[in-house]
Amino acid sequence: MDIIDKLIQTHTLTGQEFTELIGMYEDQEAAERLSAEALRIRKEIYGNKVFVRGLIEFTNYCKNDCLYCGIRRSNQNSSRYRLTKEEILECCDHGFELGYRTFVLQGGEDPWYTDDRMTDLVSTIKQRYPDCALTLSIGEKSFESYQRFKEAGADRYLLRHETASETLYRKLHPESMSLKNRIRCLYDLKELGYQTGAGFMVGAPFQTREDIAQDLLFLKELEPQMVGIGPFIPHHDTVFADRPAGSVKLTIFLLSVIRIMLPHVLLPATTALGTLDPIGREKGMKAGANVVMPNLSPVKNRKQYELYDNKICTGEEAAECRDCLSRRMETAGFQVVSDRGDFQAETP
Ligand code: 5AD
Ligand code: FES
Repeated sequence: MDIIDKLIQTHTLTGQEFTELIGMYEDQEAAERLSAEALRIRKEIYGNKVFVRGLIEFTNYCKNDCLYCGIRRSNQNSSRYRLTKEEILECCDHGFELGYRTFVLQGGEDPWYTDDRMTDLVSTIKQRYPDCALTLSIGEKSFESYQRFKEAGADRYLLRHETASETLYRKLHPESMSLKNRIRCLYDLKELGYQTGAGFMVGAPFQTREDIAQDLLFLKELEPQMVGIGPFIPHHDTVFADRPAGSVKLTIFLLSVIRIMLPHVLLPATTALGTLDPIGREKGMKAGANVVMPNLSPVKNRKQYELYDNKICTGEEAAECRDCLSRRMETAGFQVVSDRGDFQAETP
């Protein structure tokens, strides 16, 4: 049995086999076998549906200093902003009218947004929109903080693990951060009952095939409800400005692998993928993804939430990302639905 058949039948591989599989990403036949199976699984569980999440980038202040990220603390050229509670609620109002039933509050690790302020924000949004799911993506916090947000009504949490390799983690982050704490956060979130999302960048500087194999093994072990992966894209004001971007082909290949490993997973075709390839998100869907996260942030701030260069949907013309994506998804043979799009657990 070859490794693709083995992956399809057992939903996992050994580290060495994953490394070998990743090495095959430019092999057209291998990629097609994987994407056909990934699409089959995705259709069996989620049909043609594409879930949308309204992304509200509410602060780009960040106390962290991840080497790859455009809003890292030490980037003096980043023009910082923080939406007010009223502005955030306006984004939700607008989003609700457009048909969004999930809002994602994403931001840097901004100390101004204390637990008290976050809890207040979460409960206000949940009171106003009891039928909507609320996702937080605000970084590493204590168990107690995560618990408070959960009690206030947060349903889901996105925290990419970034890399499961200790060696690579050290090359991408300052000393003050640790992989151990990040992984602790992910297990805390799961324990608290959040639908939890992990993930990593594809083609990050220094990343090897073995590193990606470790990421896949980690995902298999954690069993998150959501997985976000996207290509690394250099940002001009970071130390990695001159590094090459990650591969679109490999990202799409990995989307298929992840769909096969975790059949029920909620898997977005990310903005980074759409940035490197004009039809990257459509390609992602055809390879097994089932979520898109259109930007709902105020147009006036979009350019400022610049994690990497040339990010799409930052201009005036991108005010209505939802319509744009609905049309695009329809052309690709999928249908965007107005639905919370919860994780569908396996029925025994
Ligand atoms: N290129 C691609 N993705 C990036 N992220 C941060 N910086 C970059 C970059 N330069 C991703 C990280 C983070 C998510 C919000 O964005 O994986 O978790
Ligand atoms: Fe934002 Fe198309 S999704 S402009």
